[in-house]
Amino acid sequence: MSVRGSKVSRSSAKKTGQNVLKLSTLIQPCFVVGGKGIQDPIQSMPGISRFSVDRLIREVRSSYDLGITKFLLFGAPQAKSWKGTSAYDDDNIVAQALKVLKIKFPDITLMTDICLCAYTTHGHCGIVPKGKEKIHRASTLKALSDMALTHAKAGADYVAPSAMIDGQVKAIRQKLDQHGFQQTRIMGYSAKFASNFYGPFRDIADSAPAFGDRTGYQLDYCKADVALRKVKEDIQSGADIVMVKPALGYLDIVRQVKDFSCKPVAVYNVSGEYALVKNGVKSGLWKEKNIVYEILSSFKRAGADLIITYHAKDIAKWQK
Ligand code: PBG
Repeated sequence: MSVRGSKVSRSSAKKTGQNVLKLSTLIQPCFVVGGKGIQDPIQSMPGISRFSVDRLIREVRSSYDLGITKFLLFGAPQAKSWKGTSAYDDDNIVAQALKVLKIKFPDITLMTDICLCAYTTHGHCGIVPKGKEKIHRASTLKALSDMALTHAKAGADYVAPSAMIDGQVKAIRQKLDQHGFQQTRIMGYSAKFASNFYGPFRDIADSAPAFGDRTGYQLDYCKADVALRKVKEDIQSGADIVMVKPALGYLDIVRQVKDFSCKPVAVYNVSGEYALVKNGVKSGLWKEKNIVYEILSSFKRAGADLIITYHAKDIAKWQK
């Protein structure tokens, strides 16, 4: 044991965090809207905006120049419909973004969220027959796999089903294979819990459910065994990456998944976790860089191979 006492260093936590986090493990979420010349900041998430495709190119370029190479795209359309058809129409907004980004940045990894909640007027993640308050599984699986196919055709490297409808990975894998997109991979939102931490996201995508909540299809945070079963199911169904979401309160799940998974494990450091950090910074509770490195290092420690995080661009700037 040292008899010389403890060393005093103001930045050791930051430095160790910096060593642990590689930019190649970070995935930056991006929100795409229709129109031109739009950069629309999200109030509850300082630093995050919705972009029209032309502005998104600039955003991706600035992250890319800083060393970020993986992006997860979400559509946030203004026009919605009961069946959310703008999610899976041939020339949907995410497909438009993919086509342009693929040409401008041929070596980045493009991932897309596959879910209907941002596209439906009722805000649920699937097709809800009129007059019912329940998601119709078969038509939802068809819509999700159609959506995945349009993204694959437009150049997505990974599609990421997040609707939490049973069988979504299998249905999408089948559809992609049938159409010759065997090389398009799937990142399953495998252990996605019904969480309060998605609050700010529902502002971004204007996707809060108009009735009921998502506990019917997202997972109960008291039930770790169900979550682990879901991850195993996704792997068997052909998922190439499995995800745990949210991240911060779920590191026990991340560790358990990492211990058995033959596939890379991603965590989603969600909107509410980001907003907590930002609000604490604003209130003077902590320094942004230090807290972000501490939190993200805990994801790595728990076993995360990939981290989807709204902090990605800031981290890249700090590491410059
Ligand atoms: C779509 C989806 C959500 C998030 C990612 N994909 C919202 C939800 O499930 O309610 C949340 C991401 C975040 O909070 O950052 N279903």
